[in-house]
Amino acid sequence: MKRILGIVASQRVLGNSELLTKAAMEATGADTQKEMIRLTDLNIKSCKACYRCLPPDVPCHINDDLQFLLDKIRAADAVVIAAPCYFLGPQGSIRVFQDRFLSVGNKAEEFRGKPCICIMTYGATDMKGYAEAALNLTARFLNLNLIDSDSFFGASPAEVLEDPGNLERVRQMGRGLMDPGYRRTFKANECPVCWSDLFRYEGKDIVCPFCNTRGEFKAEGQEVKMVFYPRDNHRFTEEGRYEHFDVYLNSKKREFLAKKDHYQKLQEPYRSLDWWIKPPEKD
Ligand SMILES: Cc1cc2nc3c(=O)[nH]c(=O)nc-3n(C[C@H](O)[C@H](O)[C@H](O)COP(=O)(O)O)c2cc1C
Repeated sequence: MKRILGIVASQRVLGNSELLTKAAMEATGADTQKEMIRLTDLNIKSCKACYRCLPPDVPCHINDDLQFLLDKIRAADAVVIAAPCYFLGPQGSIRVFQDRFLSVGNKAEEFRGKPCICIMTYGATDMKGYAEAALNLTARFLNLNLIDSDSFFGASPAEVLEDPGNLERVRQMGRGLMDPGYRRTFKANECPVCWSDLFRYEGKDIVCPFCNTRGEFKAEGQEVKMVFYPRDNHRFTEEGRYEHFDVYLNSKKREFLAKKDHYQKLQEPYRSLDWWIKPPEKD
């Protein structure tokens, strides 16, 4: 029996993200085993930036619910990740979870190929921001096989179900999790590697800020089109992942250890400037 894991990054009980996650999971059929995790209920602490987890056989040493969550993703055959848009980005528990990916970046083989869909909900049509593209990074950095993602409008809890098109779409995404051939169709004007529709401009180049895929505007008759030049070693390939998590980060760690005394000298004039304050203890 296939195991489907739904991860919902919203505190709202029966909110839009939860409802769409349930609808997508339901569409995987009656003969799948379903489990859901409310990400906002987990105790996932901030990354301490200690870099102890960099070696491939060392897990993050922070004692919280991260390992529970990673184990559940490891055990799943397919994953649904849903989050509302909060202040133009994905809800904060997603970012805190993503920040802990230093400990999985070069151990992501365990997650490779598991189909995943991402569902973003938002409540203001002109405020979707970068939430869907940033939410999708959860799947990309975990090495999951992101087969589909979409954004769904609904401000009040359950409002997202008022549009029957939303249910139809999310069910299609859910069924896709069970279909090895399913992959969302390419949309014009998005990065062909990570599907983001946000770009940076460098000279006449368009650059995807997430995977660094480059492209340019080209005139075709009366139309101007975005043309991309994807590399086969972008950030989310095995090679790109190895370059960043194994080569680059380890080299920075070695460099830090070699230059520790030097860095401490740079810190020295600021050590005694103790201006930190804390809120009063709560009883
Ligand atoms: C703190 C907060 C910030 C929000 N920021 C945005 C926003 O930037 N853009 C937007 O479109 N909707 C925003 N919303 C609306 C939610 O994205 C929307 O209501 C969503 O459907 C909530 O999903 P949920 O029911 O699963 O929690 C915000 C809601 C809250 C509570």
